[in-house]
Amino acid sequence: MKAVLQDEYGSPEALRFGEVEKPAPKNDEVLVKVHAASVNGSDWEGLIGKPLYARLGGFRRPSNKILGSDIAGRVESVGVLVEQYKPGDEVFGEMADYRGGFAEYACTSEKLLARKPAGMTFEQAAAIPQAGVIALQGIRDKGGVQPGQNVLINGAGGSAGTFAVQLAKLCGAEVTGVDNTAKLDFLRSLGADHVIDYTREDFTRTGKQYDLILDVIAHRSVFTIKRALKPNGTYYVVGGSVAILLQVLFLGPLIRRFAGKNVRVLAVQRNQKDLLAITELCEAGKIVPVIDRQYLFHEVPEALRYVGEGRARGKVVIRIE
Ligand SMILES: NC(=O)c1ccc[n+]([C@@H]2O[C@H](COP(=O)([O-])OP(=O)(O)OC[C@H]3O[C@@H](n4cnc5c(N)ncnc54)[C@H](OP(=O)(O)O)[C@@H]3O)[C@@H](O)[C@H]2O)c1
Repeated sequence: MKAVLQDEYGSPEALRFGEVEKPAPKNDEVLVKVHAASVNGSDWEGLIGKPLYARLGGFRRPSNKILGSDIAGRVESVGVLVEQYKPGDEVFGEMADYRGGFAEYACTSEKLLARKPAGMTFEQAAAIPQAGVIALQGIRDKGGVQPGQNVLINGAGGSAGTFAVQLAKLCGAEVTGVDNTAKLDFLRSLGADHVIDYTREDFTRTGKQYDLILDVIAHRSVFTIKRALKPNGTYYVVGGSVAILLQVLFLGPLIRRFAGKNVRVLAVQRNQKDLLAITELCEAGKIVPVIDRQYLFHEVPEALRYVGEGRARGKVVIRIE
């Protein structure tokens, strides 16, 4: 099969098209003929090998050479233990180790897949999984956002952020979106009540405090963040600097105990139930998976560059013919 291959960590130029063996599903896996995939911030991180957690699958070079975490397509074959799907079914979901999707065929666990709604295209479905589930858990499930609360989303104009802004509004919150100058009108169009341009203003220095801060691109110390939280407020870091993630892990319990503010890492639990829950909201038109651009299979390097340069407003989707 054809796939986009990454031999080294580096720039989009490090990618090449190649032929590799079609994967075979393990007992609990489904082999999917991929029709569409989407790009997440994690794909860019996996390409450049930064932050350091992006090298968990291979420190010097990626052991799985195929990037791509979100897929949608048709079931080709199933492992002997798979109960929910049969060949021909239309499905979408996530790759188990965040890799393997930018290819003609991909194998993943049946637990990370769901049936594609009939009214949704493969492209729309591929845009949902990783970003939608991060938002669902960060805003609704773990975040527990209530009507009237003040919620700030840092990195609001990217993949997970666009779902998070819409979901926080749906939960009745007053939402502040933080991203670069070019994305501020876009954030307002998603429903953000307030926007902050991170190139001009530091949200921790405005004097405003929040009930929940969801940070998809953390680079501020926990002490700075603490300042922007209301008493009993919660900060969830999703991705970003490893130093900050470690700070949150080790100092979070102390801040919770002595300052009464919940500073935590959001370890996203990927599962079919949450994928279906966010997809139902999309089907009902309550949340829109915003697709900024679509690229063809051979344009994966350009698609990654577009996301890596921070130009994408929402999702970038790859059509795999
Ligand atoms: N915790 C978990 O279990 C888990 C699971 C899956 C994924 N993740 C992580 O979740 C993150 C999700 O990212 P994503 O897919 O939403 O990324 P994305 O699509 O690249 O979006 C990131 C957004 O942040 C903006 N940004 C960059 N620097 C910023 C700054 N200093 N302040 C505010 N905004 C800034 C970017 O725009 P500009 O660059 O143009 O400014 C972009 O709009 C990734 O780091 C991934 O590794 C975590």
